[in-house]
Amino acid sequence: MKALIASGGRGTRLRPITHTQNKHLIPIANKPILYYAIEAAAEAGIKEIGIVHNADSQEVPNYIGNGSKWGVKITYIPQTVPGGLAQVVQLAEKFIAGDKFIFYLGDNMLVGGVKKFVEEFEKSKCNCYLTLSKVKDPERFGVPEIRNGKIIRVEEKPKKPKSNYAVAGIYLYDHNIFDAVKSLKPSARGELEISDAHSLLIKRGFKVGYTEITGWWKDTGKPTDLLEANRLILDNIKPYIAGEVDEQSDVAGRVVIEKGARIIKSKIRGPVIIGKNCIIKDSYIGPFTSIGDRTEIKDSEIEYSIVLRDCKVINVGIRIEGSILGNDVEIVEAAGKPRVHRFMIGDQSRIEVV
Ligand code: G1P
Repeated sequence: MKALIASGGRGTRLRPITHTQNKHLIPIANKPILYYAIEAAAEAGIKEIGIVHNADSQEVPNYIGNGSKWGVKITYIPQTVPGGLAQVVQLAEKFIAGDKFIFYLGDNMLVGGVKKFVEEFEKSKCNCYLTLSKVKDPERFGVPEIRNGKIIRVEEKPKKPKSNYAVAGIYLYDHNIFDAVKSLKPSARGELEISDAHSLLIKRGFKVGYTEITGWWKDTGKPTDLLEANRLILDNIKPYIAGEVDEQSDVAGRVVIEKGARIIKSKIRGPVIIGKNCIIKDSYIGPFTSIGDRTEIKDSEIEYSIVLRDCKVINVGIRIEGSILGNDVEIVEAAGKPRVHRFMIGDQSRIEVV
């Protein structure tokens, strides 16, 4: 059993963060999204992982490395032009070399890992095994049509979904998927759709089974999904305090404070993670907030937010909520008169003021 992880694409819906950073490397609870997929594969006993990445950037290979950190061997497979998930599978044929494999979309997150799915797939003798999750907006996903307990077709982003399930981005296959992905024509959005490959396998009489994801599952395509995934991960975080908390501070709930971080005269209400060497002074950090390494927050309040590394939030008069701050972002009080808002903001940023 091998694993194939997709980390390509441009992450356009997560701009401006993705102007300078691959979306799969954006941290959720201070850990890159892609780590969760690698950890899940390693925990399922998989030793060989292929990661498909944008050919014009070495960002993912440089960041993730050879896999020894997780006790696995990682092979990088460059993708020159984004052409859909079925194309990602095509590119991996040589790496998979006839094995069974789990195909994991690197921007999908779920609780509880994938070991169970791997075991079910092996036992089921299916050629393809899909994971389904009940959603409110199936039209955003691949949607199965189920009759008498069997999937009879999968439609990609249908206007009239035939069920309230999304096919999650965690698929299990044997080698028959390769013939299927080679027979596809591009869809209306110009991509080789993985959903079409699933429908084709069914049409050709292959055994396509499924399981339902009962815990939470998230496709982190939009900013609100990132905040939600951050909330869900923080909700299960194991608390520890390696940094310093002074006597005038008040820390309650599930809170991680990393080494070198200093909490001074501040109130922290978990679940919260505060990265290495942060300074939090005269501030309030509320539930479901992740603060990246070396960030300074002074005389400010922030909750339900993701703040990446090396930011400065100083003397902001109104609580920051539901926000995502990229690396090296500064939100500081304007010095002197007149009392003004002064912005220096990159392309496709979004600011809401009162
Ligand atoms: C892709 C798949 C879709 C699947 C989804 C899960 O959608 O095409 O079938 O339900 O991932 O995350 P995309 O991310 O390309 O919109």
